[in-house]
Amino acid sequence: MVSISRRDLLRGLGAAFGALLTGKSLTRRASAEEGAKAGTFRFVHLTDIHVQPELKAAEGMAACLKHVAQLNPAPDFILTGGDLVMDALEQDVQRTTLLFKLFTRVLQDNTSLPVHHCIGNHDVFGWGKKHGVTPETPGYGKKMFCEVFGYEKTYYTFDHKGWRFFLLDSVQPSEKLLYEGGLDPEQWEWLEEQLQKKPAGMPGIIVSHIPFVTVTVLPDAVQDSQFRIGAGSLCTGAQKLSLLLSQHNVRLAISGHIHMVDEVEYRGVKYVCDGAVSGRWWKGANKGFPEGYGVFDLSPDGSVKYQYVTYGWQAAQT
Ligand SMILES: [Fe+2]
Repeated sequence: MVSISRRDLLRGLGAAFGALLTGKSLTRRASAEEGAKAGTFRFVHLTDIHVQPELKAAEGMAACLKHVAQLNPAPDFILTGGDLVMDALEQDVQRTTLLFKLFTRVLQDNTSLPVHHCIGNHDVFGWGKKHGVTPETPGYGKKMFCEVFGYEKTYYTFDHKGWRFFLLDSVQPSEKLLYEGGLDPEQWEWLEEQLQKKPAGMPGIIVSHIPFVTVTVLPDAVQDSQFRIGAGSLCTGAQKLSLLLSQHNVRLAISGHIHMVDEVEYRGVKYVCDGAVSGRWWKGANKGFPEGYGVFDLSPDGSVKYQYVTYGWQAAQT
């Protein structure tokens, strides 16, 4: 568990809610020169799809992709934000294989856009070690995700129109909780190296399943007169990450996992916790946040506009 003092929390909350309510950026805007080579384009972020044969989830995922196809202007590509399937963490190999097959089939049938995937906790196969799954079972852990999508690693970068994207793996093993949010030492080293290598004038975007900075978890976090947040809800190392991002011209950090929506400006970086395609795991809106996805419009000056878009899904049961 992560404990936060009440004073720190209120200070953070005040700033974050202030930004949310007024829509004002608390921090710097890029100079025209800094972002001169960056392009204008749109992409979408579909997170927490949690596809499964039940609850009309596959139909819902298809409806969401069809909605994306109607956007004007059209997005250049889709980012997924993790928790693609429901669920690989505690299932056997047959069910997990079926889920990933379902996911790739629905994707193939309903979009022709390029897709870049980010791993979520529910996409890790077998860490729950149920149904006879052991570390020797084929595809165990993050291997299945890499095999399904043809990735060498669960974290990687790609460039698009003068912007660099860093897709991170924020799911780390935990004896107590099965998983915790954060990066392992190897990935921290890799990220620091990659940020050093990125041309300074090139704006960057990071994507993680579990958020580093968000206020969505706070309103429900009071227990025994303390704000307590599970280590599976947020990534550790947020202060280190936020400093790194602000030093390396990273403009945006996108996450999912919470199935709620916020935008926080912190140290010159916009942190977006995006809502879930599945809403409340295909049972309607989650705490007032309906099924939807993120639309991001990027400008040559390095600025980013985010909208949470719903696609009119009616849950099979609530
Ligand atoms: Fe999720």
